Amino acid sequence: MADLDDIRDGDNFGLNTPAKSSNFYLNGLDGADWGTKNRMSRIFNQKSGRTVMLAFDHGFLMGPTSGLERIDLLIASLADHADCLMGTRGMIRSCIPASNQKPICLRTDTGTTILTEMNHNVLISEEEAISMNASAMAAMLAIGDAETEASTIANFSQLVDIGNTYSIPVMGVTAVGKDMARDARYFGLASRVCAENGASIVKTYYTEGFEKVVAGCPVPVVIAGGKKLPELEALELCYNAIQCGASGVDMGRNVFQSEAPLAMMNAVKAVVHDDLKPAEAFDLFNTEKNA
Ligand code: 5RP
Repeated sequence: MADLDDIRDGDNFGLNTPAKSSNFYLNGLDGADWGTKNRMSRIFNQKSGRTVMLAFDHGFLMGPTSGLERIDLLIASLADHADCLMGTRGMIRSCIPASNQKPICLRTDTGTTILTEMNHNVLISEEEAISMNASAMAAMLAIGDAETEASTIANFSQLVDIGNTYSIPVMGVTAVGKDMARDARYFGLASRVCAENGASIVKTYYTEGFEKVVAGCPVPVVIAGGKKLPELEALELCYNAIQCGASGVDMGRNVFQSEAPLAMMNAVKAVVHDDLKPAEAFDLFNTEKNA
């Protein structure tokens, strides 16, 4: 039994010392094989080392939420402007043209909805990910949720085994449940659990002290956007995350629920890839919105 009475928070994160990477441009992936690196290179821009993923997997939990009523209309029209598309097999097959050339991060777990108890998820088959030419597979870990922590970590670990067999990188999606803390200690622990279990990408949420979340996680970290915010605040969130070392975003509602989704996507890209300051990116958003 592990000692639980003297868990000391780490305080030696070497914040000014980037993790070493000698033969690949993304953190923590020197040891990955050719296929994994090749797929990661499709997702992460090779100049900036960052990515803007468009997340539209929300429907499997919450149905046709605002902005996702017609994925064939709005999301399909944004697809060419994202670096990567993150969605479920059903929506990608039915709403995204097969001629799409953007890499797919396939949501590979599915389960209960907002109508019951969330996070009782299972994995879809690896044959699906392979047949859909997925560049990455994503599954959620409900760290800290007594009911579903063990089963979601088991799912994730199984998915990494599959990913390693076929050289498909796996993204760990850290869940936020109603009883879970939303601070750097929690997200740092959850992100580290993803990496310890073999994630090639970790998706989590920005919070104060985020530099420690990133420093404690040796593979690229991307942030979810969370609930819709005013555009300037969402751009500040992206900027702060990038300045703390995040490798990009996997953002949904703050793009597809924006009053001008394409303008917002382009403003987010400017922050992520070009380090534009939030106010400058907001100007860009307004200019494109009004064009
Ligand atoms: C839900 C997810 C979503 O893709 C994630 O929350 C990103 O979307 P948003 O930016 O709207 O939060 O993984 O499990």
